[in-house]
Amino acid sequence: METIISQQISNPNIRQNINRKIIWTVLVLCITVPLSVLATFCFVNQSTRLQLTKKSDFCYGPIAFMHEQGTRIHWCTNEKTESQLVGYPSTNDSSKSHYHSTFVNSTNFNYSLPGSDVQYTYYLPEVIKKFVIMTDTHNNSKYTSLLNNVEFDFMLHSGDNCEDGDLSELTTGFANWPTKPMLFATGNHDYDFNNFAHVTERPLHYYQQIRNIGVFVIYTLNGQDVDAFNFLKDNAHLALDSEHVFIISHQPTYTTGEHGSNKTLSVQMEKFIDTHQNLNIRAVFSGHSHVFAAFKREEVFYFVNGVGGGALDKVHSEKKMGERVWITQELHGGLVEVNDQSYGYQHHLDSYSKYTRTEVQFVGNTIVYTIRDLDTSEVVQMYEQTF
Ligand SMILES: *[C@@H]1O[C@H](CO)[C@@H](O)[C@H](O)[C@H]1NC(C)=O
Ligand SMILES: *[C@@H]1O[C@H](CO)[C@@H](O)[C@H](O)[C@H]1NC(C)=O
Ligand SMILES: *[C@@H]1O[C@H](CO)[C@@H](O)[C@H](O)[C@H]1NC(C)=O
Ligand SMILES: *[C@@H]1O[C@H](CO)[C@@H](O)[C@H](O)[C@H]1NC(C)=O
Ligand SMILES: *[C@@H]1O[C@H](CO)[C@@H](O)[C@H](O)[C@H]1NC(C)=O
Repeated sequence: METIISQQISNPNIRQNINRKIIWTVLVLCITVPLSVLATFCFVNQSTRLQLTKKSDFCYGPIAFMHEQGTRIHWCTNEKTESQLVGYPSTNDSSKSHYHSTFVNSTNFNYSLPGSDVQYTYYLPEVIKKFVIMTDTHNNSKYTSLLNNVEFDFMLHSGDNCEDGDLSELTTGFANWPTKPMLFATGNHDYDFNNFAHVTERPLHYYQQIRNIGVFVIYTLNGQDVDAFNFLKDNAHLALDSEHVFIISHQPTYTTGEHGSNKTLSVQMEKFIDTHQNLNIRAVFSGHSHVFAAFKREEVFYFVNGVGGGALDKVHSEKKMGERVWITQELHGGLVEVNDQSYGYQHHLDSYSKYTRTEVQFVGNTIVYTIRDLDTSEVVQMYEQTF
């Protein structure tokens, strides 16, 4: 090589040519290198912006909300960005936002996140075996992650995901929920600021059929009770063929917790249930009071599903419950009704000042309600209902 070069350079014409070539090469390099570096940078930047590879790129989610005609998959990104699921077209793929959602026209879904090899697959089983209920998480994700270790088909939240209703609280409130479908009921802390509309895309009152199970979700606080009970009456026929019917209402029908009952609302619930014996109503699930409490009136259970993250109350309220002056961690059996707040106390079964979740299992011709302590996972109480 060396010898050839020295020979060529000895020829002045060749030398001139080489000089020109060098100048051209330098010129071309000067132009193309920065351009390609820039292009590479832009490309990489673009693709990292669109391809979220880490779960840490998400503020929360994905979470799946059950809808009548399918499932709404919702997720939040720390950056305002375009983001869409692999496997489904985005409903709004041309806007940069923190909040993203895709409506899947099915109760089943199968998708992954861009750049992620984690596949989120869910098939609603033909026969529902088990669902779980948590409530009053109040901007605290301490306990929701526990559901990731539990086998179940879907879950219910009876309201008060937020504390102050600030949009930023969704980041904490929805942080650790499993990706299985959820049915969400509005609580007063969620209602005050009504910030959930674009997330769950469900109204205050709605009906959801899940295979042989019919679920009514209503909101009776803030003067919404007239609408809520009209909704129940007008839509009762939707659940006529359901083998099991459940009602979710943030405000409990009966409670030993601090707020006490609201007799006006309790009587309306009793009247609806009494005049709809043709429906297989099994239980009413609530929250609002930060205790666990179980009541049974005729064949129907009324649960205050224990608090799932908010401040724990004692099973006690001297002020609200009149002559009821005990301060205790638990209560059992029928109690004496002394005023409107203690309405329905004769139906009382058990109350606990504990963080709990409720698991509902269908075993043969029996529904088993298992109440578990959120801190220890131990069974606090079990109730059976034969049909
Ligand atoms: C898409 O998002 C933008 C910005 O949030 C919004 O203005 C627009 O209405 C959305 N379009 C659809 C079809 O949802
Ligand atoms: C969803 O799927 C059903 C059944 O395949 C179909 O009748 C309906 O039109 C679909 N809806 C939308 C919005 O695609
Ligand atoms: C889910 O989708 C992935 C990617 O398209 C596919 O490989 C996988 O087989 C699907 N899983 C099921 C259970 O349909
Ligand atoms: C919600 O929780 C987050 C994380 O713990 C905290 O930073 C924030 O202040 C809380 N917001 C409210 C309103 O409690
Ligand atoms: C009970 O509910 C009724 C009907 O919404 C309402 O007018 C009343 O103020 C409530 N009572 C209490 C003590 O909250």
